[in-house]
This record gives sequence, C-alpha cells and structure tokens, in this order.
Amino acid sequence: MNKAIVTGASGLLGRAILKSFDADPGWEVVGLAKSRARDGLLCHDLLHADATEELLQRERPTVVIHAAAERKPDVCEGRPEFTQALNVTASSTLCEAAKAVDAWVLFISTDYVFDGTQPPYHPRDTPHPLNAYGESKLGGEEATLRVNPGNAALRVPILYGEVERLEESAVTEIACSLLDSTPVKMDHWAVRRPTLVDDVGSACLQLANHQVSSQSCRGIWHFSGDESMTKYDMALAMGRVIGLDSSHIEPDEQPPPGAPRPHDCSLDCAEFDARCSVVRSSFTSVIGDFLRPHLP
Ligand SMILES: NC(=O)c1ccc[n+]([C@@H]2O[C@H](COP(=O)([O-])OP(=O)(O)OC[C@H]3O[C@@H](n4cnc5c(N)ncnc54)[C@H](OP(=O)(O)O)[C@@H]3O)[C@@H](O)[C@H]2O)c1
Repeated sequence: MNKAIVTGASGLLGRAILKSFDADPGWEVVGLAKSRARDGLLCHDLLHADATEELLQRERPTVVIHAAAERKPDVCEGRPEFTQALNVTASSTLCEAAKAVDAWVLFISTDYVFDGTQPPYHPRDTPHPLNAYGESKLGGEEATLRVNPGNAALRVPILYGEVERLEESAVTEIACSLLDSTPVKMDHWAVRRPTLVDDVGSACLQLANHQVSSQSCRGIWHFSGDESMTKYDMALAMGRVIGLDSSHIEPDEQPPPGAPRPHDCSLDCAEFDARCSVVRSSFTSVIGDFLRPHLP
C-alpha cells in the first residue's frame, strides 16, 4: 500500500485532499495540522526542522502533498520573515526530509506567481509575482524542485468548498455581504476561476497515482475551474442560488486596496488534462451546498 502525508490537513484545501486519499483503498494517509490537530490529525509545526526530519523518518511516506502555508496576501505583506520561514524555508526542509526517505513531494502553489497581464498562463510561462504571498509561493516551488527535480508543484487559483465559517474562504466570505443589507462595493476588476477544493483533491490523487505507477509527474502543473468570474459575479450568482437580494451590492471596477493583486491569472490546464481526468464542478450547481449550513 502507498502512504501519503498531507500537510495543512486541517485547512480548507487539506481537508479535501485528505478525503480524496482516504477514499482510495490503495492509499494510507496521514494528515498534519498545527493549531487544529483533531479528528486523527497529527500535531506538527513545520517551522521545527528537526521534528520534520524525525516525522518523515518515522512515517516513511511514498508521497507528501504539501498544502500548509500562509495564504492571506495581506498577512504575507505585513509579516515577510514569518512568510519566508513557513512558505519557503519550511518547504525546503520538508523536501530535504522527504528526499532522505525517497518520497515524492507535490507542492501546492498559486496562480498569484503570475502578474495577471497576459492570461492564460502555461506552466512554462515566466512567473512575475506582484505581492509577498506570490513571491513566497514561487520561492516554495523553486525550493521544492531544487531539492529534488523529480518533485512537482500544482498551481491552483481561488478556492472554495465546505467551510467551518463563511469567512474561511475568500469565496464563501462574499455571502456575508448578501446577509447584510448595508450597501457595499464588490470587486469587479480581478478575473478569477473559482475552483472547488474537492476537484483539487482529485487532481492531487490522480497526479500521485501517476507518479507511483510511472514516476512521470515532475515539474509544474496547472489546474483550475473553467468559469471566469469576478467577486461581483460570484455575489450575484450566490444571491440567485440561495434566494437573497443582491441589489445593495455595487460593482467596483477599481483594483482592490491592500497587497497588489493580479488582474487575470487564468491558468492553461491543457497539460494536466492530457494526463488526468478531473471533471470541473459548476460554481452555481454546488455553491449553495456550502452556504446553506451557515445561513440564519
Ligand atoms: N485558499 C485559496 O483560495 C488558495 C488559492 C490558491 C492556492 N492556495 C494554496 O493552497 C494551499 C492550502 O490553502 P488553504 O486555503 O487550505 O489554507 P488554510 O485554510 O489557511 O490552511 C492552512 C493550513 O496550514 C497549516 N499551518 C499553518 N502554519 C503551520 C505550521 N507552522 N506548521 C504546520 N502547519 C501549519 C494550518 O494548520 P492549523 O490551522 O491546524 O494551524 C492549516 O492546516 C496553500 O499552499 C495555499 O497557498 C490556496
């Protein structure tokens, strides 16, 4: 049986990756978490290099799906040293520890490695991040492939899925503005491809299965949903799906404040689709399932 370690398994994406591997009888899976280490997850702080080496020596996984990160652009901008330590240095340490036990690492990355001026982006297009988050994730990708060129990175865009609270994802958070009738402006400038975490979980599992069967998944991969929407478009779609008025939400055509954001980082997923087969979920068909448990 193959064994997977999933870092960040308590997070929005990690929970879905864990579920995908759990559902495949060919895999034993161990989930790592830091502050939310419950429901069978192991408590492990990736900032402790020695403990990471010991953990990999003890568990001896076949693959490591590395989803743990600081992923909030405004936090990354304000805490550059912490962001570098977690997103880059700890990723490098993890890859060294994985290499020592012959494990393959899939580093979860972001479309924010691009500047958003010339979409769609192919995996070999030159990255040019606009903010500290994108810089740090590019640094994590580079470390992953430098430590072992046989490793891989999977870039994904804005994610949504089952949340502990609406604010947990930048997509479901939009629904808070539907629940509050105060007039508000919503970003209608940045073009996104909202992607369901369960679909990314399937993408990770398929890449890992290809890797263990043929060692053929090295390098950069792109995966995303196939619907282009601004946050304003998502707000209107959510309002229709859950039956809430959205007339108090106004489109904002200006770039959002805070850390600089790219305009349109749509990813070219042709290479992924030639290798794997993941049917993309339709935003309007599934978003209601994740919002309804949080409605009053
Ligand atoms: N969310 C998005 O829209 C999005 C878009 C593109 C790419 N991504 C990428 O997808 C990956 C997963 O994102 P996400 O949204 O699932 O993030 P998330 O919900 O914020 O979860 C972050 C995870 O990292 C863990 N973590 C944080 N600090 C840690 C440390 N020092 N040691 C060990 N674990 C630590 C957290 O554990 P605890 O909570 O238990 O402390 C949590 O499980 C990230 O690499 C991110 O860059 C996310």
